[in-house]
Amino acid sequence: MIHQYTDYSLLPHNTFGMDVKAASFIEYTSEDDLRRLLDERRRMQAADPLLPIGGGSNLLFSGDFCGTVLHSAIRGIDVVREDDRFVWVKAGAGEVWDDFVACCVSRGWYGAENLSAIPGEVGASAVQNIGAYGAEVKDLITEVEAVEVSTSEVVHIQADECRYAYRQSIFKNDWKGRFIITYVTYRLGKSPEFHIDYGNLCAELEGKPLTLSTVREAVRRIRDSKLPDPRKQGNAGSFFMNPVVERSHFEQLRALYPSMPFYEVDAAHVKIPAGWMIDQCGWKGRSLGRAGVHDKQALVLVNRGGATGAEVMALAKAVQADVKARFGIDIHPEVNYI
Ligand code: EPU
Repeated sequence: MIHQYTDYSLLPHNTFGMDVKAASFIEYTSEDDLRRLLDERRRMQAADPLLPIGGGSNLLFSGDFCGTVLHSAIRGIDVVREDDRFVWVKAGAGEVWDDFVACCVSRGWYGAENLSAIPGEVGASAVQNIGAYGAEVKDLITEVEAVEVSTSEVVHIQADECRYAYRQSIFKNDWKGRFIITYVTYRLGKSPEFHIDYGNLCAELEGKPLTLSTVREAVRRIRDSKLPDPRKQGNAGSFFMNPVVERSHFEQLRALYPSMPFYEVDAAHVKIPAGWMIDQCGWKGRSLGRAGVHDKQALVLVNRGGATGAEVMALAKAVQADVKARFGIDIHPEVNYI
């Protein structure tokens, strides 16, 4: 089924809470519908920009969108293969990511629990390579099914072709705009294997049995305590990516800031939490216009009410400039500016 709307409010489709409109908004419930509507656009020689969105949890609109927003309502969570150790689960791009995690936890499938409560949908998980608490979705994904925009062909892309890296994939870079993801297949474990060594996850679990549900609940509690609920205050989670810097630069900074947190990347590189640097610059809790820096996690920019995309972008620019001046490091938005 295809639902099409014109002059459509995107307020329920962007967690930043920007009150903007799309000239056209189309939702489809199957892969065949998507292929048909792409065929139709080619037949009509439609030239307006296309913007496929998921849950709108990583978008910042600077104003109304003059093109067509496409939203997948393709559902389904199905086991497509199984052996003694693993289960391969194919999920529709329009499934809410956290519903998928809840399903994995309730079915006793291991691997997605650390990624609990991340806003967004299954299709976007494969674009953004979502990650939290030491887990990244790239380690679960085996295959991405997509439709090529220029041909309406269905393609099956293996995980090793997706060029996954920290918050990166080929869908954000070389293949940006080329495919629309319809299904993602994840491989999950059938026997207990937990990764709880990140940050305070282990402490949060102290005194509790280690199960899929307790890990999921611990992750939810930590997220709830640090990250603002987009239903109450517009935000898009981490606004910036954590920068990866040369080890020599890191060593210079560490001499100045011995308590600086960091994550090892490889022999030559170290990742530094952007939230810590923004916090050090004194931005935590501050505002510029109606946009602000969250008071419990400086990596998150918030809409304090009625902020425009331009106000948030101005705040982001000011924060980036201060981090650059103090630490000599460029930080880049994880959020996509539209
Ligand atoms: N920190 C501060 N002040 C702050 C924020 C952080 O000092 O205001 C310090 C913390 O104390 C800690 C370090 O910086 O030592 C890292 O903080 P945190 O564990 O909160 O994680 P993060 O690196 O800031 C990343 C992800 C989050 C994810 C968490 C937990 C990115 C861009 N962000 O944040 O992802 O939930 O780790 O795994 O990698 C998201 O993508 O929307 C998101 C929330």
